[in-house]
Amino acid sequence: MQHSIQSNTTWKTPSNIAIVKYWGKRDVQEPVNPSISFSLSEATTTTKVTASPSEKGGFTFLFDGKEQGSFDKKIRKFLELAQVRLPLIKDHFLKIESSNTFPHSTGIASSASAMSALAFCLADLQHQITPENPLDISEVSSVARLGSGSAARSVYGGWNLWGRLTEIPESSDHYAVPVPVSVDPVFQKFHDDILIVKSEKKPVSSSAGHALMNHHPYRNGRIKQAHDNTLNLIKYLETGNLEGFIEMAESEALSLHALMMSSTPSYTLLQPNSLLLIEKIREFRKTKDIPVSFTMDAGPNIHLLYPDEYQKEISGWQEKELQPLCEKSRIIRDNVGNGPQKIINS
Ligand code: PMV
Repeated sequence: MQHSIQSNTTWKTPSNIAIVKYWGKRDVQEPVNPSISFSLSEATTTTKVTASPSEKGGFTFLFDGKEQGSFDKKIRKFLELAQVRLPLIKDHFLKIESSNTFPHSTGIASSASAMSALAFCLADLQHQITPENPLDISEVSSVARLGSGSAARSVYGGWNLWGRLTEIPESSDHYAVPVPVSVDPVFQKFHDDILIVKSEKKPVSSSAGHALMNHHPYRNGRIKQAHDNTLNLIKYLETGNLEGFIEMAESEALSLHALMMSSTPSYTLLQPNSLLLIEKIREFRKTKDIPVSFTMDAGPNIHLLYPDEYQKEISGWQEKELQPLCEKSRIIRDNVGNGPQKIINS
C-alpha cells in the first residue's frame, strides 16, 4: 500500500514537429511506423498538478484558469490507461492547470506538449510517493504516449525517434529515444516558423485520421516509405545533408495529406493559402538557392524550415510574401528547443 501525499509540481514541455510522420496506430497507442521530430523551443505547455488524497481519485482540468469540459474525455481516458503505471492516480484527486503559448487544435501538436507535461507532473508526483522508483525519462515517454502518440517524442530536447526499427536496437514502439547519432550543427540550430493559415479547430481529429489508416489501400506502402525515410533522415542529420532533408521533409508532409485525401471517407485539411505558401517557398528556394523548405502537421498550417544562418535573408521575404497569406498575419517563430523543464516555485 503506497502512502498518500498533498503536493504539487509544475512542468513546462515542448510541442514537436515531425519530419517523418507517425500516421496510423495499433494496440494501445503504438505506431504502425517509426517517426522523427524535433522539439520546439517556444510552443510549449505549462502544467501544474496538485494531488490531494482521495479514495475515489478524480480530477478537474483548468485551461488558462477556466474549466474546459471539451478536454475531459481525453484526460479521463489517459488517466485510466496511466493508472497501472502511476498508482497515485487511483487514490488522489488531481487538480490539473494548464496553459499553452500557442492555440490548441490548429494542427500544431498541442496534444504532444499537453500530454508530455501531464506525464512529467504525474511521474514526478509518483516519484515523491515512491522515491525508490527513479524518474525515468523513457518511462515518462511511454506514459505520455498513452495520452497522445506524438507526446512520446516531447520528453527530450533536440531530435527524437519513436518506433521500432530492427536496424536501431535502442528504438521502441513504447517510448521515444534521442536520435542515435550526433546531429550536425546545421540541424541543431534549425528554424520552424509556423505560418498560421487557419487557427480554427480542425474538422477531422488526428485520432480519426489514424483510425482511417487501418484499412487504407496504401497502408503497406506508407509503412515502408516511413521506415526507409527514418533511416535516411538519421543519416542526413548526422552528415548535415540539407538537400536530402528538404526533399524528404516536403515529400513526407505531402504524403501525410495525400493519405488523408485517399482514405475512405476522404478529407482534406489543406486550405487554398496552404498551397499558395508551398508554391512561394519552392519558388524562392529555386530562384535564390536558399535551403528553405516546409513541413505540415495534420492541419492547414505551414511550417517553414531553414538553417539559422539564412535567417536574415528569409525574414524580409517572409514578411513581404508569406505573412499576407497568414490568418491575421500570424506567424509563430520557433526553433529547435532544449526540452522539458521543471518549474520550481510556481
Ligand atoms: O499524437 P497524435 O495522435 O496527435 O498524432 C500526430 C500525428 C502527426 O502530428 C500528424 C504526425 C506526428 O508524427 O506528429
